[in-house]
Amino acid sequence: MTNPPPDDHAIEDLLSTPLPGAIETVQQLEGDFLVLGVGGKMGTSLAVMLRRALDAAGRTSAVVYGVSRFSRPEARTELERFGVKTLACDLAEAGQVAHLPEVANVEYLAGQKFGTDSAPGETWVQNTVVPSLVAQKFRASRIVVFSTGCVYPFVPIAGPGANEATPVAFLGEYASTCVGRERVFSHYARKFGTRQLMFRLNYSVELRYGVLVDVGSKVLRGEPVDVTMGSFNFIWQGDAVARAIQCLEHTANPPRLLNVTGPDKVSIRWVAEEFGKLFGRSPVLVGREADNAWLADASESLRLFGPPTVTVDAAIQRVAAHLQAGGRLLGKPTHFEARDGKF
Ligand SMILES: NC(=O)c1ccc[n+]([C@@H]2O[C@H](COP(=O)([O-])OP(=O)(O)OC[C@H]3O[C@@H](n4cnc5c(N)ncnc54)[C@H](OP(=O)(O)O)[C@@H]3O)[C@@H](O)[C@H]2O)c1
Repeated sequence: MTNPPPDDHAIEDLLSTPLPGAIETVQQLEGDFLVLGVGGKMGTSLAVMLRRALDAAGRTSAVVYGVSRFSRPEARTELERFGVKTLACDLAEAGQVAHLPEVANVEYLAGQKFGTDSAPGETWVQNTVVPSLVAQKFRASRIVVFSTGCVYPFVPIAGPGANEATPVAFLGEYASTCVGRERVFSHYARKFGTRQLMFRLNYSVELRYGVLVDVGSKVLRGEPVDVTMGSFNFIWQGDAVARAIQCLEHTANPPRLLNVTGPDKVSIRWVAEEFGKLFGRSPVLVGREADNAWLADASESLRLFGPPTVTVDAAIQRVAAHLQAGGRLLGKPTHFEARDGKF
């Protein structure tokens, strides 16, 4: 008899298992922790890993706050169950931001990607006005600002990927708002001397969402997989959030830029074929690989933190097993295929 797929609680338990580097970091840092935008795909993993790392480090009295509007109330219940103190707040409302507790350590995850095409004004507010309110309120904190590899231009598939010295591009409206988020935070860092780090993340993956789930689901259902984007980078969510915690120690003024993803350039075609082998069916591939893509060179974060604990092969196997077992998915496709910057 095969085991039933893990439920949300078991998955969050797995993703939030504190890695040694995260425990060492919270041992070094004083003060409480605040995760802004905790209600989304990564927030629970990050906030709960912080809680468990603090407990493992013997800092049981330090508080981890999780802030969101909680449009998914179940996220709030799950966070509280793991010992995170939740605070409901719309970060676009200055009056509500003013009431948040002042803490030493802030992880900023709030943002908006999907729906940019239909409601661009809202995305600009979420990705630039909210940063302005947050950067002013938390001027005395150290802040890890979640950003994205989408701030870079497409780079040649054959090359090493964009590194932190690569100038930003404005590839579509969403990516432009992400450059805006970094610019607004940096402006207030200069004004107030705040220590910040721009956490330029490329594709977090776990069992319920991510590029692997997108590709694997299509292969399993016999639907076409578009290979035009060619290649991508990813990192297992547990490794991504551990790095976000470690990055609190690397915040700087002027803000430090850091690419965070895995060491591998992964071909969409190859991933589809690997899922095909595991599912015992041939993937349906459409399109032809372009010669450029959004690819990041994460050498610097790999030097600082070492390789991720979950390899490309292991991540594919885990996702394949979850899909085959009919495990729950978030139903939030990444739209990794989009090459026009429209989301
Ligand atoms: N996941 C990835 O693979 C990936 C890749 C590259 C970059 N990133 C970046 O990493 C960050 C975190 O990723 P994610 O996947 O967890 O994003 P996400 O699923 O969009 O979560 C962000 C959450 O922030 C909250 N939020 C948005 N506006 C808010 C507001 N005005 N006030 C309070 N809360 C607000 C929302 O929860 P509520 O509705 O409950 O408020 C939302 O679910 C994002 O900003 C994204 O740019 C993620």
